[in-house]
Amino acid sequence: MMNNAYIIGLGHYTPDNIISNDDLSKVMDTSHDWIIERTGIEERRFAKDEGPSDLAIPASNLALKKAGLQKDDIDFIVFATSTPDYYIPGSSSIFQDKMNFKNIGCLDIRVQCSGFIYAISIAEQYIKTGQFNNILVIGSEVQSTAMNLTTEGRDTAVIFADGAGAAVISSRKKGGKILSTHLHSEGKYAKELWVESPSSRSNPTIDSNTIKDGRHFLKMNGREVFKHAVKRFPEVILEGLDYNNLGLEDINILIPHQANLRISKFIQKKLNLSDDQIFSNIHKYGNTTAASVPIALSEAVENKRISSKDIVVLAAFGSGFAWGSCILEWV
Ligand code: UT7
Repeated sequence: MMNNAYIIGLGHYTPDNIISNDDLSKVMDTSHDWIIERTGIEERRFAKDEGPSDLAIPASNLALKKAGLQKDDIDFIVFATSTPDYYIPGSSSIFQDKMNFKNIGCLDIRVQCSGFIYAISIAEQYIKTGQFNNILVIGSEVQSTAMNLTTEGRDTAVIFADGAGAAVISSRKKGGKILSTHLHSEGKYAKELWVESPSSRSNPTIDSNTIKDGRHFLKMNGREVFKHAVKRFPEVILEGLDYNNLGLEDINILIPHQANLRISKFIQKKLNLSDDQIFSNIHKYGNTTAASVPIALSEAVENKRISSKDIVVLAAFGSGFAWGSCILEWV
Protein backbone atom coordinates (compact mmCIF):
# COMPACT_ATOMS: atom_id res chain seq x y z
CA MET A 1 0.00 0.00 0.00
CA MET A 2 1.57 3.30 -1.14
CA ASN A 3 1.45 6.46 0.99
CA ASN A 4 -0.08 9.62 -0.40
CA ALA A 5 2.09 12.73 -0.69
CA TYR A 6 0.92 16.19 0.34
CA ILE A 7 2.27 19.73 0.08
CA ILE A 8 1.84 20.69 3.74
CA GLY A 9 3.68 24.04 3.95
CA LEU A 10 4.83 26.74 1.56
CA GLY A 11 7.04 29.82 1.74
CA HIS A 12 8.64 32.29 -0.61
CA TYR A 13 11.23 35.04 -0.54
CA THR A 14 12.28 37.65 -3.05
CA PRO A 15 15.21 40.08 -2.65
CA ASP A 16 14.42 43.63 -1.47
CA ASN A 17 16.18 45.19 -4.46
CA ILE A 18 13.32 46.16 -6.82
CA ILE A 19 14.25 46.90 -10.44
CA SER A 20 11.57 48.79 -12.36
CA ASN A 21 11.15 48.86 -16.13
CA ASP A 22 12.35 52.46 -16.03
CA ASP A 23 15.55 51.33 -14.26
CA LEU A 24 16.23 48.93 -17.15
CA SER A 25 15.40 51.64 -19.71
CA LYS A 26 18.31 53.66 -18.30
CA VAL A 27 20.88 50.98 -19.23
CA MET A 28 19.41 49.56 -22.46
CA ASP A 29 17.20 50.53 -25.36
CA THR A 30 13.81 49.43 -24.01
CA SER A 31 10.76 51.07 -22.44
CA HIS A 32 8.18 50.47 -19.73
CA ASP A 33 5.46 50.38 -22.41
CA TRP A 34 7.27 47.71 -24.50
CA ILE A 35 7.92 45.49 -21.48
CA ILE A 36 4.34 45.79 -20.19
CA GLU A 37 2.80 45.14 -23.59
CA ARG A 38 5.02 42.16 -24.51
CA THR A 39 5.48 40.53 -21.09
CA GLY A 40 3.13 42.04 -18.45
CA ILE A 41 6.10 42.65 -16.14
CA GLU A 42 6.10 45.90 -14.11
CA GLU A 43 9.07 45.19 -11.86
CA ARG A 44 11.35 42.39 -10.72
CA ARG A 45 13.89 41.69 -7.95
CA PHE A 46 17.65 41.35 -8.41
CA ALA A 47 19.72 39.82 -5.60
CA LYS A 48 22.78 41.65 -4.27
CA ASP A 49 25.74 39.43 -3.37
CA GLU A 50 23.43 36.48 -2.68
CA GLY A 51 23.15 33.05 -4.28
CA PRO A 52 20.13 30.76 -4.62
CA SER A 53 21.17 28.98 -1.40
CA ASP A 54 20.73 32.30 0.47
CA LEU A 55 17.34 33.15 -1.05
CA ALA A 56 16.14 29.64 -0.19
CA ILE A 57 16.72 30.13 3.56
CA PRO A 58 13.85 32.54 4.40
CA ALA A 59 11.55 30.73 1.95
CA SER A 60 12.30 27.39 3.62
CA ASN A 61 11.98 28.71 7.17
CA LEU A 62 8.52 29.97 6.27
CA ALA A 63 7.55 26.68 4.61
CA LEU A 64 8.69 24.77 7.72
CA LYS A 65 6.69 27.11 9.96
CA LYS A 66 3.54 26.73 7.83
CA ALA A 67 4.03 22.95 7.88
CA GLY A 68 4.37 23.03 11.67
CA LEU A 69 7.70 21.21 11.45
CA GLN A 70 11.20 21.70 12.80
CA LYS A 71 14.37 21.38 10.74
CA ASP A 72 15.10 17.99 12.29
CA ASP A 73 11.82 16.61 10.95
CA ILE A 74 13.10 16.96 7.37
CA ASP A 75 14.51 13.74 5.87
CA PHE A 76 15.72 14.91 2.46
CA ILE A 77 16.19 18.05 0.32
CA VAL A 78 15.51 18.47 -3.41
CA PHE A 79 16.86 21.79 -4.67
CA ALA A 80 15.79 22.94 -8.13
CA THR A 81 17.91 25.67 -9.69
CA SER A 82 19.32 26.49 -13.09
CA THR A 83 21.67 29.03 -11.54
CA PRO A 84 23.59 27.12 -8.82
CA ASP A 85 25.79 29.08 -6.41
CA TYR A 86 28.81 27.21 -7.75
CA TYR A 87 29.61 24.82 -10.54
CA ILE A 88 30.66 22.28 -7.90
CA PRO A 89 29.13 21.27 -5.48
CA GLY A 90 25.39 21.77 -5.90
CA SER A 91 23.40 24.48 -4.14
CA SER A 92 21.62 21.82 -2.06
CA SER A 93 24.91 21.14 -0.21
CA ILE A 94 25.60 24.84 0.35
CA PHE A 95 22.03 25.34 1.55
CA GLN A 96 22.09 22.25 3.79
CA ASP A 97 25.14 23.63 5.58
CA LYS A 98 23.80 27.20 5.90
CA MET A 99 20.52 25.89 7.38
CA ASN A 100 22.49 23.66 9.76
CA PHE A 101 20.52 20.55 8.88
CA LYS A 102 21.58 17.20 10.28
CA ASN A 103 23.35 14.94 7.75
CA ILE A 104 20.33 14.30 5.56
CA GLY A 105 20.71 13.62 1.85
CA CYS A 106 20.32 16.46 -0.59
CA LEU A 107 20.01 16.67 -4.33
CA ASP A 108 20.27 19.41 -6.96
CA ILE A 109 18.16 19.16 -10.05
CA ARG A 110 18.64 21.23 -13.20
CA VAL A 111 15.40 21.36 -15.11
CA GLN A 112 15.19 25.15 -15.40
CA CYS A 113 11.61 26.55 -15.53
CA SER A 114 10.11 23.09 -14.95
CA GLY A 115 12.50 22.37 -12.06
CA PHE A 116 9.93 22.70 -9.29
CA ILE A 117 7.43 20.34 -10.97
CA TYR A 118 10.21 17.78 -11.50
CA ALA A 119 11.34 18.28 -7.87
CA ILE A 120 7.82 17.64 -6.55
CA SER A 121 7.65 14.51 -8.64
CA ILE A 122 10.92 13.20 -7.16
CA ALA A 123 9.79 13.97 -3.61
CA GLU A 124 6.41 12.36 -4.26
CA GLN A 125 8.05 9.03 -5.15
CA TYR A 126 10.10 8.90 -1.92
CA ILE A 127 7.00 9.70 0.14
CA LYS A 128 4.87 7.14 -1.69
CA THR A 129 7.34 4.31 -1.10
CA GLY A 130 7.65 5.27 2.57
CA GLN A 131 11.42 5.88 2.38
CA PHE A 132 10.98 9.45 3.69
CA ASN A 133 8.20 11.26 5.58
CA ASN A 134 9.07 14.92 5.07
CA ILE A 135 11.00 16.39 2.15
CA LEU A 136 11.95 20.02 1.60
CA VAL A 137 11.58 20.98 -2.04
CA ILE A 138 13.05 24.27 -3.23
CA GLY A 139 13.00 26.33 -6.40
CA SER A 140 15.53 29.17 -6.17
CA GLU A 141 17.26 31.31 -8.77
CA VAL A 142 19.72 34.16 -9.08
CA GLN A 143 19.60 34.88 -12.79
CA SER A 144 20.44 38.58 -12.78
CA THR A 145 24.17 37.82 -12.75
CA ALA A 146 23.87 35.90 -16.06
CA MET A 147 22.03 38.73 -17.80
CA ASN A 148 23.54 40.96 -20.43
CA LEU A 149 22.19 44.26 -19.08
CA THR A 150 22.72 46.12 -22.35
CA THR A 151 20.58 46.54 -25.46
CA GLU A 152 22.16 43.38 -26.88
CA GLY A 153 20.64 41.31 -24.06
CA ARG A 154 17.35 43.16 -23.69
CA ASP A 155 15.15 40.23 -24.78
CA THR A 156 16.17 38.21 -21.71
CA ALA A 157 17.20 41.00 -19.32
CA VAL A 158 13.68 42.42 -19.12
CA ILE A 159 12.14 39.02 -18.33
CA PHE A 160 14.32 36.96 -16.02
CA ALA A 161 14.74 37.71 -12.31
CA ASP A 162 15.62 36.34 -8.89
CA GLY A 163 13.60 34.71 -6.11
CA ALA A 164 12.92 31.54 -4.14
CA GLY A 165 10.01 29.33 -3.17
CA ALA A 166 9.92 26.29 -0.90
CA ALA A 167 7.47 23.51 -0.11
CA VAL A 168 7.39 20.71 2.46
CA ILE A 169 6.16 17.46 0.88
CA SER A 170 4.94 15.00 3.47
CA SER A 171 3.01 11.81 4.12
CA ARG A 172 0.94 13.79 6.66
CA LYS A 173 -2.59 14.50 5.41
CA LYS A 174 -2.74 18.29 5.09
CA GLY A 175 -2.67 20.95 2.35
CA GLY A 176 -2.43 19.82 -1.26
CA LYS A 177 -2.65 16.10 -2.04
CA ILE A 178 -0.53 15.28 -5.09
CA LEU A 179 -2.83 13.41 -7.48
CA SER A 180 -0.34 13.15 -10.33
CA THR A 181 2.72 14.55 -12.04
CA HIS A 182 3.45 14.32 -15.77
CA LEU A 183 6.92 15.16 -17.09
CA HIS A 184 8.28 15.62 -20.62
CA SER A 185 11.30 16.93 -22.48
CA GLU A 186 12.56 17.48 -26.01
CA GLY A 187 16.32 17.96 -25.86
CA LYS A 188 16.74 18.81 -29.53
CA TYR A 189 15.72 22.36 -28.59
CA ALA A 190 18.35 22.69 -25.82
CA LYS A 191 20.13 25.57 -27.51
CA GLU A 192 17.01 27.70 -27.94
CA LEU A 193 17.41 28.79 -24.31
CA TRP A 194 20.82 28.17 -22.79
CA VAL A 195 24.04 29.41 -21.25
CA GLU A 196 26.96 28.04 -23.25
CA SER A 197 29.84 28.79 -20.94
CA PRO A 198 31.54 28.14 -18.55
CA SER A 199 31.25 24.47 -19.31
CA SER A 200 33.27 21.27 -19.05
CA ARG A 201 33.52 21.26 -22.84
CA SER A 202 36.10 24.01 -22.88
CA ASN A 203 38.71 25.60 -20.66
CA PRO A 204 37.79 29.27 -20.24
CA THR A 205 41.31 30.61 -19.76
CA ILE A 206 42.16 34.26 -19.97
CA ASP A 207 42.95 33.79 -23.68
CA SER A 208 39.61 32.34 -24.64
CA ASN A 209 36.89 34.40 -26.28
CA THR A 210 34.19 33.32 -23.83
CA ILE A 211 33.71 36.71 -22.20
CA LYS A 212 34.40 38.72 -25.38
CA ASP A 213 31.77 36.70 -27.28
CA GLY A 214 29.30 36.91 -24.39
CA ARG A 215 28.97 33.11 -24.21
CA HIS A 216 28.46 33.37 -20.45
CA PHE A 217 25.12 35.18 -20.90
CA LEU A 218 21.74 33.48 -21.03
CA LYS A 219 20.63 33.32 -24.68
CA MET A 220 17.07 32.77 -25.82
CA ASN A 221 15.29 32.41 -29.13
CA GLY A 222 12.18 34.06 -27.67
CA ARG A 223 9.80 33.44 -30.56
CA GLU A 224 10.69 29.74 -30.77
CA VAL A 225 10.32 29.28 -26.99
CA PHE A 226 6.98 31.11 -27.09
CA LYS A 227 5.68 28.93 -29.93
CA HIS A 228 6.47 25.68 -28.10
CA ALA A 229 5.27 27.00 -24.72
CA VAL A 230 1.76 27.78 -25.92
CA LYS A 231 1.49 24.26 -27.36
CA ARG A 232 3.02 22.28 -24.49
CA PHE A 233 1.30 24.04 -21.57
CA PRO A 234 -2.28 23.15 -22.66
CA GLU A 235 -1.18 19.67 -23.73
CA VAL A 236 0.37 18.71 -20.39
CA ILE A 237 -2.45 20.32 -18.37
CA LEU A 238 -5.01 18.24 -20.28
CA GLU A 239 -2.84 15.12 -19.87
CA GLY A 240 -2.90 15.58 -16.06
CA LEU A 241 -6.63 16.29 -15.98
CA ASP A 242 -7.46 13.28 -18.20
CA TYR A 243 -5.34 10.99 -16.02
CA ASN A 244 -7.47 11.99 -13.01
CA ASN A 245 -10.78 11.90 -14.91
CA LEU A 246 -11.13 15.65 -14.42
CA GLY A 247 -12.24 18.30 -16.87
CA LEU A 248 -11.25 21.93 -17.39
CA GLU A 249 -14.36 22.98 -15.46
CA ASP A 250 -12.95 21.18 -12.39
CA ILE A 251 -9.92 23.49 -12.20
CA ASN A 252 -10.31 25.90 -9.29
CA ILE A 253 -6.95 27.48 -9.97
CA LEU A 254 -4.25 26.99 -12.56
CA ILE A 255 -0.82 28.18 -11.47
CA PRO A 256 1.35 28.26 -14.58
CA HIS A 257 5.06 29.01 -14.58
CA GLN A 258 5.20 32.80 -14.83
CA ALA A 259 7.05 33.00 -18.15
CA ASN A 260 5.28 35.87 -19.86
CA LEU A 261 1.76 37.20 -19.24
CA ARG A 262 1.01 36.75 -22.95
CA ILE A 263 1.78 33.03 -22.64
CA SER A 264 -0.59 32.74 -19.64
CA LYS A 265 -3.30 34.65 -21.53
CA PHE A 266 -2.83 32.35 -24.51
CA ILE A 267 -3.24 29.25 -22.31
CA GLN A 268 -6.30 30.78 -20.63
CA LYS A 269 -7.94 31.46 -23.99
CA LYS A 270 -7.06 28.08 -25.47
CA LEU A 271 -8.47 26.25 -22.43
CA ASN A 272 -11.39 28.65 -22.09
CA LEU A 273 -10.64 29.39 -18.42
CA SER A 274 -12.18 32.30 -16.52
CA ASP A 275 -9.99 35.03 -14.97
CA ASP A 276 -10.61 33.44 -11.53
CA GLN A 277 -9.22 30.09 -12.71
CA ILE A 278 -5.69 31.32 -13.49
CA PHE A 279 -3.12 32.89 -11.18
CA SER A 280 -0.63 35.56 -12.15
CA ASN A 281 1.98 37.53 -10.23
CA ILE A 282 4.50 38.07 -13.04
CA HIS A 283 3.90 41.85 -12.87
CA LYS A 284 5.72 41.91 -9.49
CA TYR A 285 8.51 39.37 -9.92
CA GLY A 286 9.19 38.73 -13.61
CA ASN A 287 10.17 35.22 -14.70
CA THR A 288 12.00 33.53 -11.81
CA THR A 289 12.40 30.18 -13.63
CA ALA A 290 12.38 27.28 -11.08
CA ALA A 291 11.18 29.65 -8.34
CA SER A 292 8.13 30.98 -10.17
CA VAL A 293 5.68 28.12 -9.49
CA PRO A 294 6.44 27.79 -5.74
CA ILE A 295 6.38 31.59 -5.28
CA ALA A 296 3.01 31.75 -7.05
CA LEU A 297 1.58 28.75 -5.17
CA SER A 298 2.79 30.19 -1.86
CA GLU A 299 1.17 33.55 -2.68
CA ALA A 300 -2.06 31.91 -3.83
CA VAL A 301 -2.34 30.11 -0.46
CA GLU A 302 -1.34 33.25 1.44
CA ASN A 303 -3.98 35.29 -0.45
CA LYS A 304 -6.62 32.64 0.33
CA ARG A 305 -7.14 31.84 -3.34
CA ILE A 306 -7.21 28.12 -2.45
CA SER A 307 -9.87 26.39 -0.29
CA SER A 308 -10.63 22.89 0.88
CA LYS A 309 -11.57 20.46 -1.96
CA ASP A 310 -10.08 22.74 -4.63
CA ILE A 311 -8.37 21.23 -7.66
CA VAL A 312 -5.09 23.11 -8.15
CA VAL A 313 -3.09 22.64 -11.34
CA LEU A 314 0.61 23.50 -11.59
CA ALA A 315 2.27 23.58 -15.02
CA ALA A 316 5.60 24.68 -16.42
CA PHE A 317 7.52 24.86 -19.68
CA GLY A 318 11.05 26.06 -20.29
CA SER A 319 14.65 25.47 -21.24
CA GLY A 320 15.53 21.93 -22.19
CA PHE A 321 12.90 22.03 -23.59
CA ALA A 322 11.27 20.47 -20.53
CA TRP A 323 7.69 20.73 -19.37
CA GLY A 324 5.33 19.16 -16.85
CA SER A 325 2.16 19.40 -14.81
CA CYS A 326 1.08 18.50 -11.30
CA ILE A 327 -2.54 18.08 -10.23
CA LEU A 328 -3.32 18.72 -6.56
CA GLU A 329 -6.47 18.37 -4.50
CA TRP A 330 -6.62 20.54 -1.40
CA VAL A 331 -7.77 18.54 1.65
O1 UT7 B 1 10.65 30.79 -18.88
C1 UT7 B 1 10.29 29.99 -19.96
C2 UT7 B 1 11.04 30.33 -21.15
N1 UT7 B 1 10.87 31.66 -21.63
C3 UT7 B 1 9.73 32.09 -22.19
O2 UT7 B 1 8.71 31.44 -22.20
C4 UT7 B 1 9.79 33.40 -22.94
C5 UT7 B 1 9.21 33.22 -24.32
N2 UT7 B 1 9.37 34.37 -25.22
C6 UT7 B 1 8.91 35.60 -24.92
O3 UT7 B 1 8.38 35.85 -23.86
C7 UT7 B 1 8.98 36.67 -26.01
O4 UT7 B 1 9.42 36.08 -27.21
C8 UT7 B 1 9.89 37.89 -25.65
C9 UT7 B 1 9.26 38.70 -24.55
C10 UT7 B 1 11.28 37.42 -25.26
C11 UT7 B 1 10.05 38.80 -26.85
O5 UT7 B 1 8.77 39.27 -27.26
P1 UT7 B 1 8.32 39.14 -28.77
O6 UT7 B 1 7.01 39.77 -28.86
O7 UT7 B 1 8.45 37.69 -29.17
O8 UT7 B 1 9.38 40.05 -29.50
P2 UT7 B 1 10.36 39.65 -30.68
O9 UT7 B 1 11.47 38.79 -30.22
O10 UT7 B 1 9.52 39.14 -31.83
O11 UT7 B 1 10.94 41.06 -31.06
C12 UT7 B 1 10.11 42.12 -31.59
C13 UT7 B 1 10.93 43.39 -31.64
C14 UT7 B 1 12.32 43.18 -32.24
O12 UT7 B 1 12.61 44.32 -32.99
P3 UT7 B 1 12.43 44.32 -34.60
O13 UT7 B 1 13.31 43.22 -35.10
O14 UT7 B 1 10.98 44.06 -34.84
O15 UT7 B 1 12.89 45.69 -34.99
C15 UT7 B 1 13.23 43.12 -31.03
O16 UT7 B 1 14.54 43.55 -31.33
O17 UT7 B 1 11.15 43.88 -30.31
C16 UT7 B 1 12.55 44.09 -30.10
N3 UT7 B 1 12.84 43.84 -28.69
C17 UT7 B 1 12.73 44.80 -27.78
N4 UT7 B 1 12.39 46.10 -27.85
C18 UT7 B 1 12.37 46.81 -26.71
C19 UT7 B 1 13.22 42.69 -28.09
N5 UT7 B 1 13.36 42.88 -26.78
C20 UT7 B 1 13.08 44.18 -26.56
C21 UT7 B 1 13.05 44.99 -25.41
N6 UT7 B 1 12.68 46.28 -25.52
N7 UT7 B 1 13.35 44.50 -24.18
